Amino acid sequence: MAPFSTILFLVLLIAPLCNATLGVQYYDQTCPHAEDIIYQTIRNASFFDSKVPARLLRMFFHDCFIRGCDASVLLDSTPENKAEKDGQPNLSLGAFYVIDAVKTNLEKACPTTVSCADIVAIAARDVVAMSGGPYWNVLKGRKDGRVSRANETVNLPAPSFNTSQLIQSFANRGLAVKDLVALSGGHTLGFSHCSSFEGRLHNFSSVHDTDPSLNAVFAQSLKQKCPKPNSDRNAGQLLDPTSSVFDNNYYKQIISGKGVFASDQSLLNDYRTGLIVKAFANDQATFFREFAASMIKLGNVGVLEHGEVRLNCRAVN
Ligand code: HEM
Ligand SMILES: *[C@@H]1O[C@H](CO)[C@@H](O)[C@H](O)[C@H]1NC(C)=O
Ligand SMILES: *[C@@H]1O[C@H](CO)[C@@H](O)[C@H](O)[C@H]1NC(C)=O
Ligand SMILES: *[C@@H]1O[C@H](CO)[C@@H](O)[C@H](O)[C@H]1NC(C)=O
Ligand SMILES: *[C@@H]1O[C@H](CO)[C@@H](O)[C@H](O)[C@H]1NC(C)=O
Ligand SMILES: *[C@@H]1O[C@H](CO)[C@@H](O)[C@H](O)[C@H]1NC(C)=O
Repeated sequence: MAPFSTILFLVLLIAPLCNATLGVQYYDQTCPHAEDIIYQTIRNASFFDSKVPARLLRMFFHDCFIRGCDASVLLDSTPENKAEKDGQPNLSLGAFYVIDAVKTNLEKACPTTVSCADIVAIAARDVVAMSGGPYWNVLKGRKDGRVSRANETVNLPAPSFNTSQLIQSFANRGLAVKDLVALSGGHTLGFSHCSSFEGRLHNFSSVHDTDPSLNAVFAQSLKQKCPKPNSDRNAGQLLDPTSSVFDNNYYKQIISGKGVFASDQSLLNDYRTGLIVKAFANDQATFFREFAASMIKLGNVGVLEHGEVRLNCRAVN
């Protein structure tokens, strides 16, 4: 039995992560059409630019993992401060203009009501549903943070991480092993630059030139896309052959040794995650249900109950 003081300490540690004030009906009185406005704006933007859905999904993950889901990822750098979006793993962060368009439309309908943090959370749900994935009710009522620091993006998990490191990174945010495996399924959408996985293709280790967990034929095709030296900074690979459809192909790819990142591939061979990967590969409905549940948990990470609703998502009030 753990001593009482230990239990009390754990309760105090966990309490700030639980948030009673978020609610599905948060804007029902103050901005009843908020979610329609967000959906319409995002659908229009995705029609003009097919990269938008993947970018908005990844934006939510980066926001929540650094300082909690507080829209810190949206703040622009200032002369005094380099912001998160100018930190290192930001290459494919984009589509900030879509959030700006949503905010402009919301400010017309209901001024200073809907937080930028809630916009990002709702946008992530909408792009998943729009791409053929599950739908869930987003809890709302997050406030916007006033701090964003480029150097804190070192705390994002890296694509070279093994499962132990990934589990630790997720546990630091109150997320469980199942959440890690389900949320990694976000890689059913989108694209990666060569720089995020080329360490697996050449000089991998003192024994293996190529990462032995990579399917050999797949490794060959990645090498063709990412020749060394790589002069095309935009070269890369779709994360999934059906990269604009939200489906469970990501898990099937991993089982075939075709996970693009070492982090993705490592989930198959670890005893804590391998069975979950196989369950999601075998049953898309289970994956959809668990993904939705884990996105709700991700949306609760480090939420601010008190704070401001920014007028412009790029700057503090
Ligand atoms: C488990 C740890 C994770 C790692 C190590 C990781 C790493 C990466 C990396 C390196 C890229 C490619 C960046 C580039 O080269 O352009 C990427 C892309 C992406 N990630 Fe993750 N990620 C993780 C978890 C997640 C989660 C939880 C989500 C959302 C639920 C997500 C959604 C995405 C999406 C949609 C893209 C494609 C972005 C685009 O096409 O613009 N990732 N991720
Ligand atoms: C639709 O998206 C395009 C491209 O981003 C933009 O120029 C246009 O103003 C948008 N239209 C509406 C009605 O939001
Ligand atoms: C990403 O970070 C680099 C280095 O800090 C910066 O030069 C670049 O402008 C950033 N890119 C984006 C899209 O914000
Ligand atoms: C980031 O820099 C600030 C000072 O600007 C410092 O207080 C903080 O500890 C740094 N954080 C990390 C993760 O390096
Ligand atoms: C995961 O990586 C860490 C850091 O490189 C290392 O210490 C650990 O042994 C690795 N774990 C496994 C299971 O490979
Ligand atoms: C592999 O690493 C060795 C020693 O660090 C280096 O001399 C060699 O050029 C590298 N090869 C490639 C293909 O990068």
